[in-house]
Amino acid sequence: MKKKVLLMGASGSGKTSMRSLIFSNNPASMTARLGATIDVEQNHVRFLGDLILNLWDCGGQDAFMDTYLTTQRSTIFQHVGVLIYVFDVESREMSKDLEYYTDCLDGLISYSKDASVFLLVHKMDLVRGDSEVFEKKRKELLAATGAKEATVFPTSIYDESLYKAWSSIVHTLIPNAAVLTKHLKTFAGICCATEVVLFERTTFLVIATSSQSDDGTDDLGMMATRYERTSDLIKAFKQSCARAREEFCALEVELPDFTAVLDEMTRNTYVLVVAHDPLVQTAALRLNIRMARSRFE
Ligand code: GTP
Repeated sequence: MKKKVLLMGASGSGKTSMRSLIFSNNPASMTARLGATIDVEQNHVRFLGDLILNLWDCGGQDAFMDTYLTTQRSTIFQHVGVLIYVFDVESREMSKDLEYYTDCLDGLISYSKDASVFLLVHKMDLVRGDSEVFEKKRKELLAATGAKEATVFPTSIYDESLYKAWSSIVHTLIPNAAVLTKHLKTFAGICCATEVVLFERTTFLVIATSSQSDDGTDDLGMMATRYERTSDLIKAFKQSCARAREEFCALEVELPDFTAVLDEMTRNTYVLVVAHDPLVQTAALRLNIRMARSRFE
């Protein structure tokens, strides 16, 4: 099952940087060395079992944008599952950016009318995460989007906001996400866990959580950013392990307040089990994870 993901936006808006952070595990500091993308760079990322993301990073220089909208129009916009359009929050050419965006949206509606649209207001660190600036941009972008449904996220490569946005995007592509959530809920109950979270193995994007309710919200009353913080921290920890020439395998935390185990679940996933019951021990959690593996394959 191949899902085509189009990554578009003006040149320099940060598309290749986010791709290199999420999918190639490079640190943010390395993105300054990236050159402009020439034409389209295609990547196939095996995500979960049969799910392969076919990521099209479309170079944003005007000459390339013009060909996507004319001679390459059908090639670019057909069979698209998701369009991710990136806007630099400090762009000095917003009206031109919006013009290209609406032209791309027309192309998408003509060739892949059911595709989901995600808009990223990127480089939010440059405005220190200012929520008013974001809200203004969000309204502007939704007005330009018209009747087509779109979700807007504030992002930056320097914090966990990028993981939140990409986890939500990838979540829409997983066909059996609701079944996974149901299994995780059962597993959490069996382990006496407060919460169980499933991550994709290489990107550490969140695939499903046990605390998600049907409307997508969660009801534990814990820090809302805990998932993307975990993705970010684990990726940083994996980079440290790589620098020390050690391989990251699993993680255990046993503190007076809580117990947590992060361990391999399947070939493509890691699971995090968090329990606040002092009687729950990490060895028991690891045993339960081992016993549950075959159910999640
Ligand atoms: P094209 O390949 O020409 O389409 O550009 P692109 O959209 O792929 O831009 P690229 O990823 O090459 O990033 C351009 C510059 O933006 C790089 O110097 C990155 O370091 C910088 N950048 C990317 N993301 C962020 C961010 O979140 N914050 C800040 N401050 N800079 C960023």
